[in-house]
Amino acid sequence: MLVSTHDGPGKDAPGWWKSAVIYQVYPRSFADSNGDGLGDIGGIRARLGHLRDLGVDAIWMSPWYPSPMADAGYDVADFRDIDPVFGTLAEAEALIEEAHAAGIRMIVDIVPNHVSSEHPWFRAALASPDAPERDYFWFRPAKGENMPTNWTGEFGGTTWTQAPDGDWYLHLFTPQQPDLNWDHPAVRAEFESILRFWFDRGVDGIRIDSAALLFKDPALPEVTDGVPHPFHDLDAVHDVYRSWRRVADEYSATTTRDRALIGEVWMPDVERFTNYLRPDELHAAFNFDFLGCAWDPALMRACIDRTLEAHAAVGAPPTWVLSNHDVTRHVTRYGRADTTFSFDNNLDRTPVDLELGTRRARAAALLSLSLPGSAYVYQGEELGLWENEHIAEDRIQDPMYARRGHTRDGCRVPLPWAEDEPPFAFTGSDHALPELALPELALPETALAEPWLPQPREWKDRTVQAQTGDPNSMLELYRQAIRLRRAEPGLHAPEMTWLDHGPDVLAYTRGPDFACVLNLSGAAVALPDHVSPLLVSGPLDDGGLLPPDTAAWLRLQPTPGH
Ligand code: NOJ
Repeated sequence: MLVSTHDGPGKDAPGWWKSAVIYQVYPRSFADSNGDGLGDIGGIRARLGHLRDLGVDAIWMSPWYPSPMADAGYDVADFRDIDPVFGTLAEAEALIEEAHAAGIRMIVDIVPNHVSSEHPWFRAALASPDAPERDYFWFRPAKGENMPTNWTGEFGGTTWTQAPDGDWYLHLFTPQQPDLNWDHPAVRAEFESILRFWFDRGVDGIRIDSAALLFKDPALPEVTDGVPHPFHDLDAVHDVYRSWRRVADEYSATTTRDRALIGEVWMPDVERFTNYLRPDELHAAFNFDFLGCAWDPALMRACIDRTLEAHAAVGAPPTWVLSNHDVTRHVTRYGRADTTFSFDNNLDRTPVDLELGTRRARAAALLSLSLPGSAYVYQGEELGLWENEHIAEDRIQDPMYARRGHTRDGCRVPLPWAEDEPPFAFTGSDHALPELALPELALPETALAEPWLPQPREWKDRTVQAQTGDPNSMLELYRQAIRLRRAEPGLHAPEMTWLDHGPDVLAYTRGPDFACVLNLSGAAVALPDHVSPLLVSGPLDDGGLLPPDTAAWLRLQPTPGH
């Protein structure tokens, strides 16, 4: 059933995306309702109560469209349907409606840079060099004996594959993900129509995959230092987002729901990054600068300042992201000697102290949930999950592994919900879980398949069931923090003010009587003057000092003048 978007009880909160907590659902790994070992929409619907109890404002749904799954669904064969592995379009519509009824907005993931090689356009293009669809892609003859360029793909490796007729086609990712030609008006028209398709179904936002890659220099020059890059961040891309913004604004103006566009823009140059966030372009973009930043007071503070300043310059809300389905989970990252993240710096299986990583992840949650702007939570981060770095090679599915020797599968492992051993009720449960308001998944009688990726046995202490009601658990920390974030007026205003508490402590106020203090030094520190602690990421020591790698939210005496 369709959600009515053209009438209704009045306007949705305008600008909800400016301060929302947005939870990323990776549907293959959330919950499996049909026993095939892969998560699905039935599982998400059955476990929506978890997200309601967590208190998130919106769900960002990673791709759920029909796909051969060469890149876990980021190879889309049809943007207007749902892969049978996940369910049906009717189920997706029901989920959108149920999420809305639970006060949760829905964001879908659109992949404009490429389609699946099984997409009807590409099949037509391959079938005949004369097909009009040929021009929707980048087909080129060989350059002498060689492929048209020597570009390195985003996953590593080459970027061209030879079609049976001898021409080569471009793919910045895998050969199963041919790049679209965004200079062609049919491509532009198609994606605007896809946006409308999902907006008509009531979705509140669009996450835009690989948003800076769409255009290519048609002269196809080699990548050379000091000259404009032939396929990163070409200026023409902004015109596309201006027209997408007009579509989103039209829906915001003429329906009850305010729509947002959120870009995946990996861009070291902050100014070029915020170009995407000018008032007539995207509403928000993921902060990968923050995600990749080392656990270091000076670097973190500089990153926060850089973020606030750059976003203020274009009037866009900052975002705070610690993890997603592409990067090493931050419990693991923060437990290593090198706490940065970059695809060019493979730290897989280097020593990790999970206790330290967990302590820091708890503190990072209080940081990211109290900075001005919107915050993202990647499924499982609220459970304190770590990267599974011990997936046997023959079970690895990520196409990045063959090209870069690094797999993203370790952060994509199915969630542990209940019980003491795998599949931890990811696939069904023998027990109803009434105390968690998690209905049993209605499973068929047939044998259940194993989860598509192996769950560490040690996750028995990290299930939703094990953590619920335990005041020291990561889950209860996230629940309390999100609840307080909603209730604290200071956390709703765009301003923050640094407090001087020494170079190794990040301390700031939000509003007249709220402060966050994060101790990044090696020794316990005194808290600033305060009325009472509101929430701490770990116990204060006997003298009431804040231990290292610990954060506190404090109620302050209101500052005069506020
Ligand atoms: C970015 C997505 O987040 C990632 O998972 C995917 O592999 C690439 N874009 C290609 O679509």
